[in-house]
Amino acid sequence: MNIKGIIKRITNRVMGDFLLRQMEKKSSLNLYGIEVEVKPDVFNPRFFTSSKLLIEQVERLSNVKGKSSLELGCGAGVATILAAKKGMQAYASDINPEAVSGLLENATKNGVEVCVYVSDLFNDIPEQSFDYLLINPPFYPKNPIEVKDNRWFCGADFEYFKSLFPALESYTNAESIVWMTLSDDCELQVIQDIAKSTGWEFHLSETRKQIMEANYLFQLKRIN
Ligand SMILES: C[S@@+](CC[C@H](N)C(=O)[O-])C[C@H]1O[C@@H](n2cnc3c(N)ncnc32)[C@H](O)[C@@H]1O
Repeated sequence: MNIKGIIKRITNRVMGDFLLRQMEKKSSLNLYGIEVEVKPDVFNPRFFTSSKLLIEQVERLSNVKGKSSLELGCGAGVATILAAKKGMQAYASDINPEAVSGLLENATKNGVEVCVYVSDLFNDIPEQSFDYLLINPPFYPKNPIEVKDNRWFCGADFEYFKSLFPALESYTNAESIVWMTLSDDCELQVIQDIAKSTGWEFHLSETRKQIMEANYLFQLKRIN
């Protein structure tokens, strides 16, 4: 490993411990004009560029009144509340019931209605085509033990992605737009290969570089 790799590993460990401690606490934040309370052990978008890339993508949308969006794995759900504020039919889901109840409370505080499911991927989401899908996935290859571990871990053999990509077909149509954030800290090639084997490819929309990490926003498109 080169010196940059060693520094990155140490920084990630120190930052990781700090972020885990922060996320054990309840926290209030205002992001892009949306006030939310984030429950303990729910993914906190304050600390992550990946969340901000998705939220900013929703912020940029215009003329979307009546369109539908689904934030799959919503965490605090700021992107979902923003979508609802823009007049969209805003749906969200999470495997963590605390994230779902937190989003329902935050939506009420922000004066919008959202429809939220507790669901492992699409398992408990009624089948329908969404106009927009927003996904900031867990991507570290390790098996989650507790429900909060799903913030980071996608299964030791990338089970999250192996289930996700084939299921997209039933929740999109030819005009749907699917956004996914990832980073240079994940096994990008492995994830893209899983997508490809199920008929989806990644198109880079945006890159945001920090000192230690680059975050990417991809649009997923069907392979013709
Ligand atoms: C990286 S966080 C992103 C949260 C939020 N979308 C954001 O951008 O701030 C990943 C979220 O996906 C949820 N998640 C992980 N695996 C899931 C699964 N199999 N089904 C549904 N949600 C899942 C986690 O609980 C977590 O809230």
